[in-house]
Amino acid sequence: MDALSEIKDFLGCETPQEWLELAAKPESQLILLTDHAHCEKKAASTAMTLMFRYVDRSDLLNKMSRLAREELIHFEQVLALMEARGHRYDHMSPARYAGGLRTGVRTSEPGRLIDVLIIGAFIEARSCERFAALAPSLDDELAKFYRSLLKSEGRHYQDYLQLARDYAGEPIDDRIEYFRQIECELILAEDDEFRFHSGRPSAALTAAA
Ligand SMILES: [Fe+2]
Ligand SMILES: [Fe+2]
Repeated sequence: MDALSEIKDFLGCETPQEWLELAAKPESQLILLTDHAHCEKKAASTAMTLMFRYVDRSDLLNKMSRLAREELIHFEQVLALMEARGHRYDHMSPARYAGGLRTGVRTSEPGRLIDVLIIGAFIEARSCERFAALAPSLDDELAKFYRSLLKSEGRHYQDYLQLARDYAGEPIDDRIEYFRQIECELILAEDDEFRFHSGRPSAALTAAA
C-alpha cells in the first residue's frame, strides 16, 4: 500500500466534495493560504511544546525537533508564495478542528501524551489527504507545492503514530478509533467557517462564496 492509501485508510472519512468545490474557488485562495501558514506555524509550536513537556523522552525530542524545523520551512514557503501573489499575511481565527480534537484528551499521564500524539497523527493525515485532493483543481504552482508537502507531512503522520505506539506500552487501537470518530464528525458536520481543516461548508457559507 502506498503512503497516501495508508493515510486514507487511517482516516475514517474523505473530505466532502462541497469543501473541495469551495476550496477550488479563486476567492477562497487567500483564506486557504493564510490558514495554511497559520497551521504550519502552529504545527511547529505544538512540536516544541511537546519538547518542553517531555524532556526525558529522547526519541520524541529528536523527532519533534526535526518536525518543528520542517514545519517552519513550510511556513516560510507559504509566506513566500503569498507574497509573490500579492496576498497580505494577517491574523485569522483558527478552525474548530484542532480544538475539537483536543476536547477528547485525557488529563493524566501517560494518557495525555498518547492522546496528543494520536491527534498529531490525525491532523497530519488529514492535511495529506486534503493536499492530494486539492492539487488537481489548483494552478500549477500551488498544485506542485501542495504535492511537495505530501511527503514530509506523511512522514510526520508516521512519526506521531509510532511515538504514540512506543510510549503507550499497550495497544492503542481503541484510542485511535475514539479520535477517528471525533475527527470525522468535525470534517463531516456543517461548518459556518471555511478553513484548511474546516467541516462541510454550511449553505450560508456556500451561498456567500
Ligand atoms: Fe507542514
Ligand atoms: Fe506536518
